Amino acid sequence: MSTSVASTTLAYCQYVNPQWARLLDVLGMNVEYRRCQGIHLTTTEDIVLKDFLSGYCVHNIGHNHPRVVAALVEELERNGPAMLQSHVPQLAGELAARLCQLAGSSLSKVFFASSGSEGIEATIKFARATTGRNGLVAAKGAFHGLTCGALSLMEGSFWSEGFGPLLPDTHQVPFNDLDALETVLRSKKIAAFIVEPVQAEAGIYTPKEDYLIRAQELCRKYGTLFVLDEVQTGMFRTGPFLAFQHWKLDPDMVILAKALSGGLVPVGAVLMTETIYDSVYSSLRRAIIHTSTFGENHLAMRAGLATLDVLLEENLGQNAIERGHQLRAGLRAIAGEYEMIAEIRGIGLLCGIAFQAPHGFLLRSSFEAFRKVHPALFGQMLVRHLFLREHILTQICGNNFMVLKAAPPLNASTADIEQFLHAFANMMKSIHHSTAFWTEALNIARKAVNI
Ligand SMILES: Cc1ncc(COP(=O)(O)O)c(C=O)c1O
Repeated sequence: MSTSVASTTLAYCQYVNPQWARLLDVLGMNVEYRRCQGIHLTTTEDIVLKDFLSGYCVHNIGHNHPRVVAALVEELERNGPAMLQSHVPQLAGELAARLCQLAGSSLSKVFFASSGSEGIEATIKFARATTGRNGLVAAKGAFHGLTCGALSLMEGSFWSEGFGPLLPDTHQVPFNDLDALETVLRSKKIAAFIVEPVQAEAGIYTPKEDYLIRAQELCRKYGTLFVLDEVQTGMFRTGPFLAFQHWKLDPDMVILAKALSGGLVPVGAVLMTETIYDSVYSSLRRAIIHTSTFGENHLAMRAGLATLDVLLEENLGQNAIERGHQLRAGLRAIAGEYEMIAEIRGIGLLCGIAFQAPHGFLLRSSFEAFRKVHPALFGQMLVRHLFLREHILTQICGNNFMVLKAAPPLNASTADIEQFLHAFANMMKSIHHSTAFWTEALNIARKAVNI
């Protein structure tokens, strides 16, 4: 596959983010795409890749689903009201009603935004308004977005370094640790516990069976709101509409984004209880106390409605469960043969392959050599190998470089999963039984030294 920078990317490099293009170049992934449809990405050289990343769980219905594209075209051709900011956007009402019906539980109002981070920011404000408290607690390793409020929930300096002071009175506790959570909640100064039901960028960690229900009980006990970030886990990614439905939870707020509008229009949503709505929008004077210009825009709303139709009519939640079982069973069968695979984990089509340092001397010295260059280098070599050799797009987790993520669109077929398993087995063979993977990686490492 030719991966040189095409002239059409020059403007991007000059005017947007040359470092991003450079990184893709180093990884050998700077290719141009001609057509993206379903799970398939076709390059200008007519190479067809399979997408096992889904834009970090944006493309639950696959790329450019014809029904959502048609709904958007129809909406544009209608020449209806858009962005008047002076009328009641009916589509927002329709979409909110469907989201609340599908969510069940006590969630009965929706605030619409244009991204996941914006949804997180809203939950921080709403939780403070409802409880009269300022404190926030989140789980270690979580990824909630890169705006200042969302960043304040995340541990470690990588994402926040150089960006100045963040929100005070924020805490992080280990995921799955109820004692640590209770210790923080006991102060009764915490407005909300914000947590992903299945941690995605932390390394695809599923909760212990009773963790979330007991965390919810602790929140109720100490007057803290229980808030679920379902930006990656929502929209049938793990099987049910929302992951919390696995454990029959009753959260105070849920954040959705990414897949909600079929990957075609920016969107975000906060589902909340009546009590929270009443605390924030408590009078006529406060009718627009928290809004966002593009929040209820007709294209995002129309795309959201069409996306729900596709997810439900094509029964993609069930397919996520079945293909997820197939994927993990296949990966576990392969994993047994290789010392570098520590664990296969996940739920539905949110799957993680956790790697570990090898024990054998030869593999270990190569592995350590380029871990010293950059902690993400090994993981990125896996991604690069799958991309260039096997024509599969994946990524490693943003906060855990030793976990490779496999999260294809929810309409992935049995054959798509088989192709991934075959590709993965080939890669594992090269890692363990040939020197090519490691020498190539060291050449990349040399180029990457300055990253
Ligand atoms: C779990 C989770 N929450 C929030 C966000 C932030 O969403 P956005 O990038 O749309 O602001 C992300 C983004 O990857 C996410 O994975």
